[in-house]
Amino acid sequence: MEDNKEREIMKVNPWEVSGNINYEKLIKEFGVTPIKDLPDIFNKNILFRRKTIFAHRDIQRILEAVNNKKPFAMMTGLMPTGKFHIGHMILAQQMIFYQNLGAKIYIAVADIEAYNTRNQSLEESKKIAIEEYILNYIALGLKPKNCEIYFQSARSQNGEKSNAYYKLQNLLAKHASFNEFKAVYGEITPGKMVSSLLQASDMLHPQLPEFNKHPIPTIVPVGIDQDPHLRLARDISQRIKSPKFIQLSSTYHSFVPGLGGGKMSSSDPNSFIALTDSPKEVERKINKYAFSGGRATLEEHRKHGGNPDVDVSFQYLKAFFEESDNILFQIEKDYRSGKLLTGDLKKYTIKKINDFLKEHHKHRGLAKKQISKFLKIEI
Ligand code: TRP
Repeated sequence: MEDNKEREIMKVNPWEVSGNINYEKLIKEFGVTPIKDLPDIFNKNILFRRKTIFAHRDIQRILEAVNNKKPFAMMTGLMPTGKFHIGHMILAQQMIFYQNLGAKIYIAVADIEAYNTRNQSLEESKKIAIEEYILNYIALGLKPKNCEIYFQSARSQNGEKSNAYYKLQNLLAKHASFNEFKAVYGEITPGKMVSSLLQASDMLHPQLPEFNKHPIPTIVPVGIDQDPHLRLARDISQRIKSPKFIQLSSTYHSFVPGLGGGKMSSSDPNSFIALTDSPKEVERKINKYAFSGGRATLEEHRKHGGNPDVDVSFQYLKAFFEESDNILFQIEKDYRSGKLLTGDLKKYTIKKINDFLKEHHKHRGLAKKQISKFLKIEI
């Protein structure tokens, strides 16, 4: 259970996430606010209740809109690389959550960003975005109504809308300085700079008159690595006199650990559970790779108990697969006391994941027929 990653230097920015992540430190360094009290509708969702979504900027504005039944938008984006795995579900579930609350949903496929920063062709991005991401969003419950999914390289077939989006990206450039870029991002290249400004336009364009008659508050849920993009967009948007932008709101989620306890890495299928994994694969991956917080021997485990805080199976139950707080609490207690063994915890986790995936695979089959409803690019 010794954690030798402790000594690795933490790096968390939009271009790189590595080392042992200290969220307390990030909250201070980035200047985001820990999430404390939320209304019941939010707390019904386990991502909020169990603090996987742990920090925010200006969420109050969104809570007010929800409370007063006023319109608001949710805007976020996806980097279309690799396989869709359970880590990606965190964002998908938030899209669906906000859609059910009545928000207008905007989702950017970051194909320009993938081209500029990951060296991936637009064709490859399109294929991955549809087959891995969008299909799974639909299968998880995203609906076509009030939902615009677009590619950064082709915002809309409606010329006015498309022009407004790319125009905003270019006008934003004037309001940022090179020193600011360096301060926010450290190392920066022309490709990265363009991607940051395009992402700023992603986040702000729902407020343009071409998209919504009156600017509406916008919540941007993201992983904490994306906060530099928010800082830049928030700062420069407020320097523009006309149109006047309502300051962006955002929430930040933590990274659910990969099977080995470190990162989920799209290049290593044994570091994650994919949403297309078969029951046998799930069983093999959890049994073989899920880092255990249990003790080395049965005797020691019974005597001293295990550590659910570092146990990957427990973390997956907590973030996604065990809805019941009572059951989760009991598992945690029994694992800590040594009553529950690693083998049994893994067995339970495998069953919960496979029950979920069985349903999900059915929905994925149906989702294929719906995909065209989401990709009408005249939006
Ligand atoms: N940069 C994001 C990522 O790497 C993707 C993204 C593009 C995005 N545009 C966005 C996220 C707008 C939030 C809002 O995942």
